[in-house]
Amino acid sequence: MRTQVGIVGAGPAGLLLSHLLHLRGIESVVLEIRSRAEIESTIRAGVLEQGTVDLLAEVGVGERMKREGAVHRGIALRFGGRTHRIDLHELTCGKCITLYAQHEVLKDLIKARLEAGGQVLFDVADVSVHDTFGKAPKISFREGGTGGEPRELSCDFVAGCDGFHGICRSLLPDSVRREYPRTYPFGWFGILTRAPRSTPELIYAHHDRGFALVSTRSPEIQRLYFQCDPHDDVANWPDERIGAELQARLAEDGWKLHEGPILQKSIIAMRSFVIEPMQHGRLFLAGDAAHILPPTGAKGMNLAIADVRVLAQGLEQFFASGSTALLDRYSETCLRRVWRAQRFSRWMTEATHRFDGDPGFGAKLQLAELDYVTSSRAAATSLAENYVGLPLDGP
Ligand code: FAD
Ligand code: DHB
Repeated sequence: MRTQVGIVGAGPAGLLLSHLLHLRGIESVVLEIRSRAEIESTIRAGVLEQGTVDLLAEVGVGERMKREGAVHRGIALRFGGRTHRIDLHELTCGKCITLYAQHEVLKDLIKARLEAGGQVLFDVADVSVHDTFGKAPKISFREGGTGGEPRELSCDFVAGCDGFHGICRSLLPDSVRREYPRTYPFGWFGILTRAPRSTPELIYAHHDRGFALVSTRSPEIQRLYFQCDPHDDVANWPDERIGAELQARLAEDGWKLHEGPILQKSIIAMRSFVIEPMQHGRLFLAGDAAHILPPTGAKGMNLAIADVRVLAQGLEQFFASGSTALLDRYSETCLRRVWRAQRFSRWMTEATHRFDGDPGFGAKLQLAELDYVTSSRAAATSLAENYVGLPLDGP
């Protein structure tokens, strides 16, 4: 098998890259270890930045998102028993966020690739990448899972879009790689529940018992999170205990969280990680393969999408003219956005989460921080412009 760009991983980064390359007349093959059904049903992100929404619409995969996604013009910060609205739309001259689940974005991208005759191979096994430092990298794999036919894909470039637990990042030689990890001492307990909306906009809540977040998926399905011990077990959390914890952390006079049957529960660890550089030879890393952040700022999927936009522009230039000017700047261009997103996500996390062992000084500073951000237009504007997404970089 031969193609121009071999893409490892069919998450938002890999699938959108394949679509963007197709629109530029560049061939790619996407290799994915999971099944299509699993990818199209895994619950993850929900918040799309304005730039992500505009890009998906511009490249022809935004029709259902525009129809079914919910546009939010503001978010709420709840602390000290009161709610303060951040008017994203007004503070950013018209920008908003859209609530549209990551697996719905993936369904739209998979449909677009397959309808255009694109090659997305699900359920592959034993993926390994070779010779990325030369001009003819190869990817070997088994088609159809363990025990399937061994295959080899020759390509001009490899895009490592295989997420945080993938294999591509390890191909960067020790002599060039630098890793920047940070672990947070808490996790998020996430649930999906069948209940009516309790609030028209997302609520990020600071409480003595810990952080909580009210989000939504549709008028009938709600997505809620609360800070927990990352080593806790979902089995310790029967539905009544979850309901009571959320009600306690979100309490406000005259307001009550609507409860309903809980459809799904999971615990998510909170980590930051960046690898530098994001490229070596003919291997380019994009999305979670190169960087992850705590979910508080809702940046992960948006960063994955911003990376592959830059990569597609660089590959287009290369295949059109042979110039590597844009590709040579890929890592630097992406990392500038990545570190600004890390800064914002750390700020959102540290301002809203309970730190065990804090004798009280830290919590007082958090309340002062939240008071400032909800009473100063300059501080609120800073939050708003980061939350809706900084402008995407041009070539
Ligand atoms: P992934 O989505 O991880 O995709 C990588 C793919 O590669 C996977 O399908 C995997 O199966 C495949 N793969 C792995 N290894 C191999 C291999 N060896 N060979 C072939 N394929 C392989 N982000 C936001 O922007 N907004 C949010 O609101 C938000 N909320 C979140 C909430 C939660 C609870 C979580 C967990 C994450 C959230 N994120 C959010 C982060 C977001 O989901 C990720 O950043 C995003 O999925 C990254 O996309 P990706 O394509 O880089 O990687
Ligand atoms: C959602 C996830 C986030 O990480 C966030 O900050 C806001 C909303 C969500 O899944 O809806």
